[in-house]
Order: sequence, then structure tokens, then C-alpha cells
Amino acid sequence: MTARPKLLVTRRLPDDVTRRLTAHYDAELNPDDHVMPAEELLAKAAGKDALLVTPVDKITPEIVAKLPASIRMVATFSVGYEHLNIDALKQRGIKASNTPDVLTDATADIALLLMLGAARRAYEGERAVREATWKSWSTTYMLGVHMTGKRLGVFGMGRIGQAVAKRARAFDMTIHYYNRSRLKPELELGAIYHQTAEDMLPHCDFLSINAPGGPETYRWLNAERIARMPDGAIVVNTARGGLVDDEALIAALKSGKLFAAGLDVFENEPNLNPAYRDLSNVFLLPHLGSATIDTRNAMGFKALDNLDAFFAGKPLIDEIA
Ligand code: DGY
Repeated sequence: MTARPKLLVTRRLPDDVTRRLTAHYDAELNPDDHVMPAEELLAKAAGKDALLVTPVDKITPEIVAKLPASIRMVATFSVGYEHLNIDALKQRGIKASNTPDVLTDATADIALLLMLGAARRAYEGERAVREATWKSWSTTYMLGVHMTGKRLGVFGMGRIGQAVAKRARAFDMTIHYYNRSRLKPELELGAIYHQTAEDMLPHCDFLSINAPGGPETYRWLNAERIARMPDGAIVVNTARGGLVDDEALIAALKSGKLFAAGLDVFENEPNLNPAYRDLSNVFLLPHLGSATIDTRNAMGFKALDNLDAFFAGKPLIDEIA
């Protein structure tokens, strides 16, 4: 019998995924689900063939340089992979995969939840009911922004951006988008393409951020770009916190330049900029974009499909390095 590949799994996995994994791999698991410090990850990687990591594991060039020679593949349980230094992995000949497609719908659903939650003041309303500060129905109480028929700008029209646009069409929204390249008409479905994000911003009553994180998009939504948006606009982010300049967004939420924001992702999660907690016009979620039972199982199975392909000597299904 050939030896089973040895895996280090940095976080707890859904039960069904763990069952499939342990049936085929000799896996070191993390049953208490703590975030592994780099030293622990490196120590436990000794003698392993592959790592199964998540977005909280920062696989920097320094870490890659220290990985044992036995590591030949890194599979991430996520579609985003800015936490992996792809150049460094490639230089060491370590393969890497991610989990695209299977979380598109769940993440787009959360973007719509954020749009509605921010526009209709869900956080303030919830709080008023729970804290019993709600006095009576009134013609002017807690009025929000009407979403139906408004203009939605999508920054990053990949799979998730397109799924957000699809949902927004059910609200009769006009879709504007910026993407590195224009979509084919059959995918564009009437959405209005802008050659620069700057051109799109004045058309965004709502803005949904759906581009990948990383150095190219770091702090993309800054004070200058917010200034280009219509007064009273709404921003939602389900991509990565690093795309937003928090100080600029907080200032715009405080001044009323923006009506509200909905945020599922933050720079330095879970240590978000504390000013967000004091603002009532921001609807906050703890990175739940892909957090459904079905989606997390599907992500885990996809990570395993890639590992299985690698150890069977086949091409990776979702190769990123
Ligand atoms: C991803 O897969 O990149 C998501 O952010 C996890 O929800």
C-alpha cells in the first residue's frame, strides 16, 4: 500500500469535510480551531506533504522560505488568496489551489443583505426593538433609502460581482461596472461598462466592492474616490477589508457624504477600526460571506478535490501557483 499523503490542516473543518479528508490523508488537525502562529505552523509543517490553510494564515515570503522541503502543495479554503505569496511559492515549486465558484452565491447574497441592511437601517431598527426605545409607528420614523430602481456600481465584475448584479436586477437596479476587462455581451446583460472606476463612481447610488484584495487594490476606496460618488450613496464590501481606506470611509459616514455602509470584511480582522462600532449608519457582519453550511462543505470538498488531483499526479482544478 502506498503511504497516505501527510497534511497539516491549520483550522477546524466542517465535519463532512473532515470525514472525507481523514479517510484519505494522514492529517494533523486543529480540533480547538485556534489561529496558528507562524512558528507553530512551521513546526507542524515538518514532515508534511501539503498544507490546507485558510485566509487567516498569512503565507508570506518569509514563511515560504522556511517551509520544510517536504511541502509540495498549499490548498487554501477560500477563493481569495492574497494571504498566499504566489511568487514565493512558485519560486520554490510549491503548487497552490483555491476554491472559486462554490461560494459565489452565498457571498452575493450577503452583499444584498448588506445593501438592504445599510439602506433600510437594519442595525438601528433591530437595536430599537431590542432596547425598547421604539415608541410607535410614525410617518417619519427611521426612514431609509429606497433601493428599487437605483443605480448600482460594481467594482470588480468577476463571478461574485456578476452574481450581485444578477440579484440587483431583481430590484430593477441599473448596473454600472468597472472591471479590468469588459465582459462579453452575454455576461454583461445590459450592465454599463466604465473604462475607469473613476468614471463609474458618479453613477453609484450603491457601490458593491467585489474585486480581489492585495497590493493592487489596497485602499482603493479612498477619500478622493468617495468624493466622486453621489451624496447620500451607500457602500458595501464583501471582498477584502484592505480595499477600503477606513479613515476615509468613517469620515464620509460621519459627515453624511455617504448615507450608510455595509461591511462584512475588514483590514486586520477581527481587529476592525474601533470607530465603526460607534457609528449607527454602518451595518457590520463578521466575514460571513461564504458562511452557509452548504457553501463551507463545498469549499472544503473543492480544496480536497485539488489535493486529490495533486497527489494523483493530475493537473490542479483551481491552480493559482
Ligand atoms: C474567501 O473565500 O475568500 C472568502 O472571503 C471566505 O469567506
